[in-house]
Amino acid sequence: MKAYRASILYFPDPHIPRVALETDGLLVVGPDARGRQVVQALGPYAELVPRFAGVPAEHFPGRIIAPGFVDLHIHFPQVDVIGSPAEGLLPWLENYTFPQEKCFSTHGHSAQVATFFIAEMLRNGVTTALAFASSHPESVDALFAEAQKHQLRLIAGKVLMDQHAPDGVRDETQQSLLDTEALIQRWHGVDRLGYAITPRFVPSCSAAQLRGAGELAAKYPDVWIQSHVAENRDEIAWVKELYPQARSYLSVYELFGLMRPRAIYAHCIHFDDEDRALMRDTGAAAAVSPTSNLFLGSGFFDYLGADRVGFGYGLASDVGGGTSFSPFHTMLAAYYVGREGQTKPGVSLNPQHLWWQHTAGAAQALGLAGVVGNLLPGCEGDFVVLNPKATALLARRTSRAARLDELLFAMIVLGDDRLVERTVISQAG
Ligand code: GUN
Ligand code: ZN
Repeated sequence: MKAYRASILYFPDPHIPRVALETDGLLVVGPDARGRQVVQALGPYAELVPRFAGVPAEHFPGRIIAPGFVDLHIHFPQVDVIGSPAEGLLPWLENYTFPQEKCFSTHGHSAQVATFFIAEMLRNGVTTALAFASSHPESVDALFAEAQKHQLRLIAGKVLMDQHAPDGVRDETQQSLLDTEALIQRWHGVDRLGYAITPRFVPSCSAAQLRGAGELAAKYPDVWIQSHVAENRDEIAWVKELYPQARSYLSVYELFGLMRPRAIYAHCIHFDDEDRALMRDTGAAAAVSPTSNLFLGSGFFDYLGADRVGFGYGLASDVGGGTSFSPFHTMLAAYYVGREGQTKPGVSLNPQHLWWQHTAGAAQALGLAGVVGNLLPGCEGDFVVLNPKATALLARRTSRAARLDELLFAMIVLGDDRLVERTVISQAG
């Protein structure tokens, strides 16, 4: 067992976006029945210390311990695409993304980028992610192997894309499904790893491939599904040409059995209330990717619409359409989207809600509430140590924060990787 003394940020009810800060707290982490390090106790230092007097405690004066961040949508082979400008999604894919993803056909290149990718996530305080690999199984093996080395909770999958894509990234229908099933069997449930069936988006997948993906999703109900939907108007028009009878873009995924709990759809921007109700009724959730949506000019996630109808969502970097690995940058971009991207007068998203969207809320979207994204007893012991005085400006502003919301907002607005002093990953045994 190990104990950590600091201010501790957590969510007393993981389903409610309300933060509690234990200003002089103790977090006690120790093995559960399977040997995995989980939170054993969380509370005021003075109250808990007699009970855990024999447990070695590390003291972080002036620091905040907070749940590790959960990134609901990120592309591992797009590290070297960040910041590539384009008119919009489709030319960005064609001119930058597909050419870059071709490089991931070899294990060597994939392994080299995987090392950087996971180090960069950890440096930014991300301890759980749902990630796209490339269409090459080698890229999935390399990414999982690196995540396993760090004992990271990572969910990932081989991209399915058997049409409307260039040589070098386009896969073959039957082989792609065989590869997917082999990868599920090799990796899903191994240590902290999970598999996600990953049809890239409707235009890049034949009906046979989407049908096969849906069949695998039915055969392996605890495997995740990830894709993109309703991101960009040209993309939506393309789907309309491919499926003129479909009620909407989202309904195509339903047609093929790809809407269910543990299905995470990136973007979900250009939705109507029937789409929102379909998300709610099937238990699928949205990966809100504000830096990507602002960078590619895709549009704005409709927070008011999502909350009115009541479907689940959480925050995502969407690197490399997204511009930053930092959860602080993503939370700030989400705040801008709330302010400017809604029917006027917009919404001023509460900093506690923004933080929840990137931790406990994102975990809930994944079906992992109570497992990650929080520090209540029983949660896996993934956390970050934040230094609210990491820069001169942060120090000035946070020292003048009179309320919890001011402190959280100061970190969201001024924070980046410098705020994250340490990232701790739950270890086995
Ligand atoms: N739609 C299909 N592929 C992609 C991708 O790689 N990134 C984004 N943002 N949207 C997509
Ligand atoms: Zn994406």
